[in-house]
Amino acid sequence: MSTNASMVSASLDGAIEQAVEKLMAGDLVAVPTETVYGLAADALNGDAVAKIFNVKGRPAFNPLICHVASPEMAADYVQCSETAGKLMAAFWPGPLTIVSKSLKHSKVAPAVSAGLETLAVRCPDNDVTRNIIHELGHPIAAPSANKSGKLSPTTAASVAASVGAEISLIIDGGPTDVGIESTIVSIEDDKITLLRPGTITADDIVGVVGGKVLDRDSNVISAPGQLASHYAPAAPVLLNQTAPSSGIFVGFGDVEGDYNLSPSGNLAEAARNLFEILRKADIAASDVIAVAPIPNEGIGIAINDRLRRAAAPRPDASNA
Ligand code: TXA
Ligand code: MG
Repeated sequence: MSTNASMVSASLDGAIEQAVEKLMAGDLVAVPTETVYGLAADALNGDAVAKIFNVKGRPAFNPLICHVASPEMAADYVQCSETAGKLMAAFWPGPLTIVSKSLKHSKVAPAVSAGLETLAVRCPDNDVTRNIIHELGHPIAAPSANKSGKLSPTTAASVAASVGAEISLIIDGGPTDVGIESTIVSIEDDKITLLRPGTITADDIVGVVGGKVLDRDSNVISAPGQLASHYAPAAPVLLNQTAPSSGIFVGFGDVEGDYNLSPSGNLAEAARNLFEILRKADIAASDVIAVAPIPNEGIGIAINDRLRRAAAPRPDASNA
């Protein structure tokens, strides 16, 4: 796979400075987070943000997450209600994205929020990336560092394979811990709606702020990552299979396969392995990828969400 990007270890002296220099020059940098790798641009630089949409082939109506170094930085850009503040205190840095009303004076490039009045903010649990943001002095906009609609990258090598030909710097922080993208909630007048499930569950959120977490109306696409087909491998995907068929079988727990998301049946481990195993299965699969049932509870809800999108009918071949 051709790549122009230089790969710099996150632990290398000067890695942060190199990344900040690129971002200040309006270039893109792939950065590690605890969930998946992000494709970052200076969120205040509209030309730089436009490059993200070009490189990913992402529709302009699909907004990006602003990654901040702290809750204080978030408060410069979005309304922070008491509920939002409690969630930030409990879960940041960590895999929770909060969508809230943008502040009027926010200088974030309008393309980041695709013209919406809200902005998604998240403080990633990765010291190097938080330091990059801190040194830059304001947020970076960063979607997952893959081509639109494809599997999110959990290693620097997967970033290089997906977008390495079109960017010049990848910060390699090793394989990511969480493995699937952050939980996204919107907060509107203290009403919390789950827009994308992740490893921080609705129950975890209720545990901190009480009340309830509303399910988004699945007929309304409020986070375009919710478009039915997403995270799509090239091979067709069959879910809830209990025995190997033809093709590649991805097991879970006691259900053995060519790969196993977690032999011990641990859902956090299965989330961590999900995209990398789907990627390997996709390379190995001659016809289909069959996947064992995953319990639909806790983190399993987010895993099944990603699997359903991987299995959904593809809108058309050019978009697959
Ligand atoms: O874990 C993550 O969240 C990763 C890492 C890199 O931080 N990022 C990520 O970004 O998954 P992306 O662009 O692949 O997914 C962001 C999702 C999209 O579904 C987008 O539609 C939604 O966030 N989103 C962003 N801003 C929004 C807004 N203002 N209102 C509703 N949804 C929004
Ligand atoms: Mg993505």
